[in-house]
Amino acid sequence: TLAMMSLLLLSQNAMAEIVVGFAQVGSESGWRTNFSNDMREEAKRRGITLKFADSQQQQANQIRAVRTFIAMRVDAIVIAPVVETGWTPILRQAQRSDIPVIILDRNIRADEDLYLTRIASDFVEEGVKAAQWLVENEQDECRVVELQGTVGSTAAIDRGTGFNRVIDKHDNITIVRSQTAEFTRNRGKEVMESFLRAEDPNSICALWAHNDEMALGAIQAIKESGLAPGEDIKVISVDGIPDYFLAMANGLANVTVELDPHLGAPTYDVIQRYLKGDTDIPKLIRTTGDVYTQATAAEEYQKRSQ
Ligand code: AHR
Repeated sequence: TLAMMSLLLLSQNAMAEIVVGFAQVGSESGWRTNFSNDMREEAKRRGITLKFADSQQQQANQIRAVRTFIAMRVDAIVIAPVVETGWTPILRQAQRSDIPVIILDRNIRADEDLYLTRIASDFVEEGVKAAQWLVENEQDECRVVELQGTVGSTAAIDRGTGFNRVIDKHDNITIVRSQTAEFTRNRGKEVMESFLRAEDPNSICALWAHNDEMALGAIQAIKESGLAPGEDIKVISVDGIPDYFLAMANGLANVTVELDPHLGAPTYDVIQRYLKGDTDIPKLIRTTGDVYTQATAAEEYQKRSQ
């Protein structure tokens, strides 16, 4: 029995000793913070050691972090990429060191053989859903201003593509201003202020923001200009963070497409499976999100703010 027990302890230890390096984008948005917290909490729940790198929205910092994880010989590397391009050399290094890489959320342009899997939503679909809400709710002429996400990120590229794909078929809807606000609340407010200066504010029908955080900044700018966000200017966004549900419940925003921040469980599932020898792992694992409006915002806010 003693031998059995020490064997058991040994194997438990082996499980507990999984070390994962995670190169996160940064903490630019409430969604990102929720996602980081989920990764930390789920690692703790499973006894996984998580080495967390906040890359402050800089790919160079992410690459440096990955290099460090390789040198540390971690068991797996998780990258939530800032931008799509420029990943091949560092992924080759990880592969040469036999360390599996999991891509989370935004996409990369690199050979599929260089990573184990990607766990992500369909960002084009999010843009499509956001635009469909507008098409269904605005039959008159509608001039839209757009706050784009980080330049070169899948979340910005694909949401833009999806939205445009839908409105291109509707002559009454046009985007009159479009600029990046880097997914942050501060920039969202500043860029919206510049839109309100550049356009006749009363001629703007809707704001399309690539995330809730920028939308919340823009809502502030719209309020300060004397207009009513959610009424005079419709507010359309993506993520579904609690603050935005509250804004919808208060009539200040109209719609959001949810992006699931609970990526910890599927990520560690894949890593644990792989480390046990399971090679049957799909290249893409999809997450999904629903569309939420003012109709259910108050109750959704309650659920999410507990
Ligand atoms: O890549 C996902 C996007 O990144 C989220 O929509 C946004 O909030 C975050 O910054």
